Amino acid sequence: MADRWQAGQAHDESARLAIATRRCQKPRDFPVCPFPKGAHLVSASHGPAQPRRFVAKGPLTGRIRVPGDKSISHRSIMLGALAVGETRVTGLLEGEDVLATAAAMRAMGATIERQVDGDWLVAGVGVGGLMQPAGALDMGNSGTSTRLLLGLVASHSITACFTGDASLSKRPMGRVIAPLSAMGAAFTPYPGGRLPLIVTGAHVPVPITYRLPVPSAQVKSAVLLAGLNTPGVTTVIEPVPTRDHSERMLRGFGADLTVTTDADGARVISLVGQPELRPQMITVPGDPSSAAFFVVAALLVPGSDLIIENVGLNTTRAALFDVLRLMGGHIEPLNPREVGGEQVADLHVRASTLHGITVDPAVVPAMVDEFPVLFVAAALANGRTVTSGLEELRVKESDRIATMHTALTLAGAKVEETPDGMIIEGSGGRALPGSGETAIATHLDHRIAMAMAVAGLASDRGVTVDDTRPIATSFPMFEHLLETTGAA
Ligand code: S3P
Repeated sequence: MADRWQAGQAHDESARLAIATRRCQKPRDFPVCPFPKGAHLVSASHGPAQPRRFVAKGPLTGRIRVPGDKSISHRSIMLGALAVGETRVTGLLEGEDVLATAAAMRAMGATIERQVDGDWLVAGVGVGGLMQPAGALDMGNSGTSTRLLLGLVASHSITACFTGDASLSKRPMGRVIAPLSAMGAAFTPYPGGRLPLIVTGAHVPVPITYRLPVPSAQVKSAVLLAGLNTPGVTTVIEPVPTRDHSERMLRGFGADLTVTTDADGARVISLVGQPELRPQMITVPGDPSSAAFFVVAALLVPGSDLIIENVGLNTTRAALFDVLRLMGGHIEPLNPREVGGEQVADLHVRASTLHGITVDPAVVPAMVDEFPVLFVAAALANGRTVTSGLEELRVKESDRIATMHTALTLAGAKVEETPDGMIIEGSGGRALPGSGETAIATHLDHRIAMAMAVAGLASDRGVTVDDTRPIATSFPMFEHLLETTGAA
């Protein structure tokens, strides 16, 4: 995959010198992490909650482009910040989550700037070159920023304090604390292994072989990123494949990373530590997880005929589109091509009659973020949809099974919550009654807000979402784009 990435500018001596100089200026004292009493934890988005009722206005038509992939955007900033020299990123997602990653990498020494043409330039500090931040790192709502950056800090001899909003502060960090502690990092988390937490990276990190106990690209990536500044070979064994952007991009930046399959069929990912990463020119493809809301809306709203350009179709991400096709959805990939080492196509979506199915739990990791909007599609299908194997949804930005169960029930859908999934009796194509003026609780979860906005477009009375602010964490242009298509 490395050769698919265009090589960036050559390393130069002045960049190395600048890095060495800054390393000598690490502040000695670290400010005390502001451990909260609990009540002050609010949304990372500012100002009062912004409720909105989403009502059907018309079909979705025309051509749109969704913003850059969130996972790839985070990794572009992080790896660019560890390369020696300047990385240029085109199509970076400028959502709050990615901006939290950029602010944290700046606080640890990288120079990250948006250019007038919209590209981002990242001047790296080199592997091993992160500096101690002068204050707490505010992760906002972003689990990906938190877990991946904990990995980076774990193998640098610095101390950092991580804080987050009310949603992020409920999410489990023990899943990364366990392997990163084995590598030598020391953690002082809030009770229950949560944020805020202080991490002191290992002075001499130890390479480990770690078998993932949960299918999580964030945990896999945290260990691999810690392995970057660890002497020797760090190995992650992944029994269930998850999104592979970290592996692709680490190779693209010049790391020595191999992927093999063991006798049980598990992926074995090995990274040789302490490489010198080479800066890159990165073009970020459109985010399939953002495209998902427009795909489902166009399938459900009668008369829709929409083209969504430049959608990333990496097979570890794009299972929703296969599931929707199995349900009878018309989704045609046009102009398939490669962008930034990833498969991409324009998706032509037409309003379709859907039928319920039993979703194979094996596809869950490849559409783990898309279940809220799949539940909406199923709520309007003919017959029953059964989903299972969704335990991980309970520890996302909200408990997405419970939150969607309550939300869809309020919107008039027939849904039953199970310990690891949802059973949905579809309306047979009839619009949902809708929640009208009654606000649906989104619990600071952007994907719940967008999924229920789509439900509103396919309802008689509309659906009121209690707070649209969290949408800006991953898809700041969502409401504007909906209006562009004519749907809202
Ligand atoms: C992500 C991995 C997934 C996903 C998240 C982004 C990533 O989380 O839900 O939105 O970029 O690695 P898990 O690894 O916890 O499943």
